[in-house]
Parts: sequence; structure tokens; C-alpha cells
Amino acid sequence: MKLVKTISEVRAEVGRARSSGRSIGLVPTMGFLHEGHLSLADRCCELAGYVVMSIYVNPLQFGPSEDFDEYPRALERDLALAEERGVDLVFAPADRELYPTELTVTVAPRRLADRLCGLSRPGHFEGVLTVVGKLFGIVQPDLAVFGQKDFQQAVLIQKMVIDLDMPVRVEVAPTVREADGIAMSSRNEYLSADERRRALSISRGLAGALRSFRSGERDAAMIGRGVLQTMEEAGGVDVEYVEVVSADDLEPVQQADEETVVVVAARVGTTRLIDNARLGAPDPGLARLL
Ligand code: PAJ
Repeated sequence: MKLVKTISEVRAEVGRARSSGRSIGLVPTMGFLHEGHLSLADRCCELAGYVVMSIYVNPLQFGPSEDFDEYPRALERDLALAEERGVDLVFAPADRELYPTELTVTVAPRRLADRLCGLSRPGHFEGVLTVVGKLFGIVQPDLAVFGQKDFQQAVLIQKMVIDLDMPVRVEVAPTVREADGIAMSSRNEYLSADERRRALSISRGLAGALRSFRSGERDAAMIGRGVLQTMEEAGGVDVEYVEVVSADDLEPVQQADEETVVVVAARVGTTRLIDNARLGAPDPGLARLL
């Protein structure tokens, strides 16, 4: 595995791989890798002949009062993990490499980014799409893998690729969970033992939604209310939203079906956590809680 820090080195390495006939896969991350990220690398290795992982904490997607400075970083450890999982190239640029001058052009999402996480994080998805658009331009992958964990992000990236005619196949991989059900996240690092116990109400609530859907409940409001109740009962969980939406456009639905997703965001202490469950898809990490 090779580590590079400049755009020109990425182009040279990827160019070599491409001319040897290999397809190019990309896994964008902000590092501090856990099994969730590594499962994306595994999936990418299955689907592409040459796997690039980017590790970059993108300042553009953090608000002024968010955790950009505190965001955990561990490049040496990340490199060892990426290598173990078969990544061929890690691209870990410095800020001045990606943003040498102030941008005059960004990728600005429309209405779909104003809802859910967009409400409490104005500008966040513009920052995400801009950096992902740049990474697509730099690496020119045939395929890129993202996690379902960040559901709104994955949908927006799929829409970007369609609307801007980017020749990249976007693959969305399932959420990897800890044994107790909590979705893996670099931000779990911030939780105290007590906060973590309370945070488990999020995945417990989602497991409850799956249970009620499977036992025949189709009233979206009822399903959402059950999730909210589980989270509120835990105490110390400040719910930002619980919504029952369509997987395609994130619009709220009244009647749940196989394509419905329950999306959740909450603050536990100062840590903001998100999670979701597709009612029609298996989620072994949640099923274990039933
Ligand atoms: P980051 O939070 O590091 O996540 C990188 C990728 O890992 C994303 O596609 C995310 O959905 C996926 N991921 C995170 N936790 C996961 C889990 N428990 N199971 C499966 N996949 C998981 O998301 C970002 O970085 C950034 O916004 C980025 C796309 C890199 C742009 O800066």
C-alpha cells in the first residue's frame, strides 16, 4: 500500500493502475477508521481492481461551532488498518493541497439538503458534496462506496452523480454496529460510559421500529412515535429528529412500506449522533436486539 499527499501523485498512481486494466474504486473517509469504514474498503475490494481510500477531515463541512478541531485523528493507525484490508492507495492531503485558494465554485445541493441534518447543520452538505466532487475529479473512480449510516449524505451523493452526469457508480453499504447495537462512529469516542448507555436507546428504538413493521404496523406516525418514546425514556437524549421517510427522496410518508427509512438524530451530552433503519432491509446488528 502506498500513501500519497498530493493530487499529482494520485493521478500518477491511479493512471498506472488504470493502464494495467484495473477498475478504480474510491472510499472517501475522514479517518479514525473503524469497522464501518473498513467494511466499505472490503466492499470496494470486491468490486474494483484498485482501491483508493481518502483520509481527510474536510473543514468545509464543519460549522463554526462544530467539532473540526477536536475531530479525532490517527493517521499512522489508519494506514496500518487500511493496508490490512487491501487498500492500494491512501490519499491524505493537507488543507492547502485541496483548498489552495478560496473556492469560487462549490456543489450546492437544493431542497433535499435543507431537511433532517441540514436543518441543524446549514452548509454541511454543500461542504460534503464539494469535497466528494473534488475527490471524484482527482481520482476519477469507476466506483465509490459510501455507508448507509449517513443516509442523507448517501442519497445526496447519488443525486449529485445523476444530476451532474458524473461517470461514477455509487455503492451504498450497510451500517456496521457494535455488539450492543450502537452504530459505529468516530464520534462515539466522545461518549462517557453513562452517555453511551443512554445512546443505546437510539438503536433500541430503531430495532423496535423494525419489530413493529414486521408485525404488520404500517402507520408511519405510530412507528415514529415508538422510536421517539424509547429514546425519551432513556433520559439525557436530546432528540433532534425522528422521521419516517421515503428512501428515495427523504420526504415523510404516512404509510410505511419496504422502501421506508426511519432516520434519527440526537444529542447525548455534547455529542451529536445519527442512525437509521430501512424497514424493508435486513439489519443483523439491529435484529440482534429484538
Ligand atoms: P466519515 O464520517 O469518516 O465516513 C466515511 C464513510 O464511512 C461514509 O460513507 C460513512 O457513511 C461510512 N460509515 C461511517 N460509519 C459507518 C458505519 N458504522 N457503518 C458503515 N459505514 C459507515 O462521511 C464522511 O466521513 C464524510 O462526510 C466524507 C464522505 C468523507 C466527505 O468528507
